[in-house]
Amino acid sequence: MRSARAVIDLDVVGPTISKHLYGHFAEHLGRCIYGGFWVGEDSPIPNEGGLRLDVVEALRRLNVPNLRWPGGCFADSYHWRDGVGPKQDRPAMVNTSWGDVEENNHFGTHEFMALCELLGADPYINGNVGSGTVREMSEWVEYLTRDGDSPMVRLRKANGREEPWKVPFWGIGNEAWGCGGNMRAEAYADLATRYATFLHDHGGNELHRIAAGATDDDLAWTEALMKAVSCLGCTRRPRNVFQAISFHYYSFAGDGISHGSATDFTAAQYYRTIAKAADIDRVIAAHSAVMDAYDPARTIGLICDEWGTWWTVEPGTNPAFLHQQNTMRDALVASLHFDIFHKHAARLRMANIAQTVNVLQSMILTTDDEGEGGGGGGGIVLTPTYHVFEMNKGHQDAVSLPVHVVEEPDRVGYDGDHLAPLSIAPLSISASTKEGTALVSLSNFALDAATSLRLDLRGRAVTATRARILTADAPQRHNTAAAPDEVVPTDFAVELRPGALGSVELTAVLPPHSFATVELDLA
Ligand code: AHR
Repeated sequence: MRSARAVIDLDVVGPTISKHLYGHFAEHLGRCIYGGFWVGEDSPIPNEGGLRLDVVEALRRLNVPNLRWPGGCFADSYHWRDGVGPKQDRPAMVNTSWGDVEENNHFGTHEFMALCELLGADPYINGNVGSGTVREMSEWVEYLTRDGDSPMVRLRKANGREEPWKVPFWGIGNEAWGCGGNMRAEAYADLATRYATFLHDHGGNELHRIAAGATDDDLAWTEALMKAVSCLGCTRRPRNVFQAISFHYYSFAGDGISHGSATDFTAAQYYRTIAKAADIDRVIAAHSAVMDAYDPARTIGLICDEWGTWWTVEPGTNPAFLHQQNTMRDALVASLHFDIFHKHAARLRMANIAQTVNVLQSMILTTDDEGEGGGGGGGIVLTPTYHVFEMNKGHQDAVSLPVHVVEEPDRVGYDGDHLAPLSIAPLSISASTKEGTALVSLSNFALDAATSLRLDLRGRAVTATRARILTADAPQRHNTAAAPDEVVPTDFAVELRPGALGSVELTAVLPPHSFATVELDLA
């Protein structure tokens, strides 16, 4: 057993943790939209206007703050006008980004906005820069958000929607350095500035325009965008023409051979995955430092609008559909990302897990068609990652609290294969407070031993606790249609006793590869 001690100051507040750090991403990719969210009005699967209700109801329990759509790479070949109007009249296209399958455009703008309304989520629409036009994107904003009378308003009304929608978040292309157009950073920066100029705030709708950013630690990309947006010394270009810059960050085992299996992995692959996930801390700090140089007042937000694990697809599934299982290892990648996101909340304003259903690190796997857990019976499986989002939802829009780990447990790691040895800190903690409560999240990444943890809670009295834990007897455990509850939260035993100088001492034993949350009622 390892031991650790940390101090949490319940009365010293840090930046607010935007609820949008718990955002989602749904792309026209594999079975995310079709089969995942959308089954069509004639499906035997219970649905509202074609949107499957089992998925919607499960997601409503997560308080999904925003949903990014329609891509990803797909966004830069999507033409929104093909996805409005009577379904029988909508032209089909080939989804060249993901498997060359036919896209019938039955899920389009109105269906996406209806989904957001059902979820209670803010829409984050990603426009097409790569193969679109400024006019096309500008008119899409007008179609969605303008009131009164205009050509696009008339078209929207003819398609059945009288009132404008609110659309707070707008992406200007995606991965412009790659699938979004293979551009140089400077070329894209100019293009993003130009597009942003024509993305108008209609009526009361206020757009947050998001420039497509780097992957991992491509700081030169961020710097080129910051130069364009802050335009130091410019006299003729407007400042802050876009309000945020994104970046993407995926985690995998990184053994140089493949992404690796989602469920069949070694201790070395496990630790390398956690190490890659942990490195997002350095990456966010590095992007933030570049941004600070141009924007010390932090008026421009940093957004990680794609993150998560990326494994080799499940055997027997289409390699272009990115369908993967999801284990306790994925759950710990998620819990670690959230601790790091909370730490960077002053600059990091939004994050979007890739992707919500059936693709990459999903919340939900549907089981009514081919693929993992299939069999035609209908239904959904909630993944271990889903449970982390649910257990952590109390951090949304809460104020972060400082956590000081004063006695660190010994590092854990692995040095037994062809790659360089690595070691990681086995413990991660974050905390926040809102409305007379505090929420503490605890992750133990060690595979070999539990951690005996003492938390000194200072600054406010604690009157009650509720604690839950997510773990399993092996990090490879996952949920399937046949065994949906292999990895689910259960009650977690914690002890409270008076500590020194009026503090409260909370003790608990975190088993190997586990994630726990402790809710505190504060006096
Ligand atoms: O999420 C899958 C893909 O990963 C997205 O379409 C793209 O932006 C990224 O490369």
